[in-house]
Amino acid sequence: MANDLLKRKKGIIFGALDEKSIAWKTALKCYEEGAQLVLTNAPVALRMGEINKLAEQCGNAPVVGADVTNMDDLKNLFQKAMEHFGGGFDFILHSIGMSLNVRKGKHYTEMNYEWNQKTLDISAMSLHKVLRTAWDMDALNEWASVVALTYIAAQRVFPDYNEMADAKDLLESVTRMFGYYYGQKKKVRVNTVSQSPTRTTAGSGVKGFDSFIDYAEKMSPLGNASAEDCAKYIALLFSDYTRMVTMQNLFHDGGFSFTGVSEKLMS
Ligand SMILES: NC(=O)c1ccc[n+]([C@@H]2O[C@H](COP(=O)([O-])OP(=O)(O)OC[C@H]3O[C@@H](n4cnc5c(N)ncnc54)[C@H](O)[C@@H]3O)[C@@H](O)[C@H]2O)c1
Repeated sequence: MANDLLKRKKGIIFGALDEKSIAWKTALKCYEEGAQLVLTNAPVALRMGEINKLAEQCGNAPVVGADVTNMDDLKNLFQKAMEHFGGGFDFILHSIGMSLNVRKGKHYTEMNYEWNQKTLDISAMSLHKVLRTAWDMDALNEWASVVALTYIAAQRVFPDYNEMADAKDLLESVTRMFGYYYGQKKKVRVNTVSQSPTRTTAGSGVKGFDSFIDYAEKMSPLGNASAEDCAKYIALLFSDYTRMVTMQNLFHDGGFSFTGVSEKLMS
């Protein structure tokens, strides 16, 4: 059921790879709630062609390729978005993660540092690059909302999450730091949503993902949060109902983060 939560709002969604992506579900939810969208992903991901299906379902939203680590790509994306929207816009979803060491099977203690640089750039500093581009181009309207996706491995050790734990920690720090400056400058809010393990392409890259998702399900009083539920929460964070929330890491995990142990898990 839609509530026109995002009527007259406009925004960019990064990271919709396929129907399982959290960004995909969020784009559909934002559109359903009345938003106008521009969709983007890395050029290599666009070649899969899946995103065009999403664009059609979102009122023929423009699709603009951008490698999120490349400042020229980001500038081009923001320019095209501003042309399309006829000026500034109101929200950005950063739903991007990639670990080279995980992908190439390197253990945390044997990390390849060149790959690690790339991981941190794609998965964390890219949020700084996105915000910096918006800042330099004055692309975001007052009270705009920026959300990035993170995971609780930034706070607690989940060994197989590997270098992504460090990347998420950095992402959450960028959220606080840039959130401070952007809040002061233009009342723009910046938050991370810390989501339950979710069956997506990025999620399934983590070793032992199936047993892990089962563990989290048993530990969470409400069970694991689905990608659809995450999309609803993000839509709320883009709306005017959360105008005073900024610089936060918001757990969206069915209670997992505050549960020490559960009876279900014990039995
Ligand atoms: N799936 C989970 O269990 C889970 C849990 C918590 C947080 N998250 C986070 O949610 C976010 C979205 O991931 P997802 O689970 O929907 O998986 P996904 O694989 O569908 O999305 C990851 C996206 O990152 C994009 N990407 C990678 N490198 C890029 C680059 N250089 N430039 C632009 N885009 C690039 C990919 O093309 C893809 O669309 C990530 O930040 C992930 O860490 C996922």
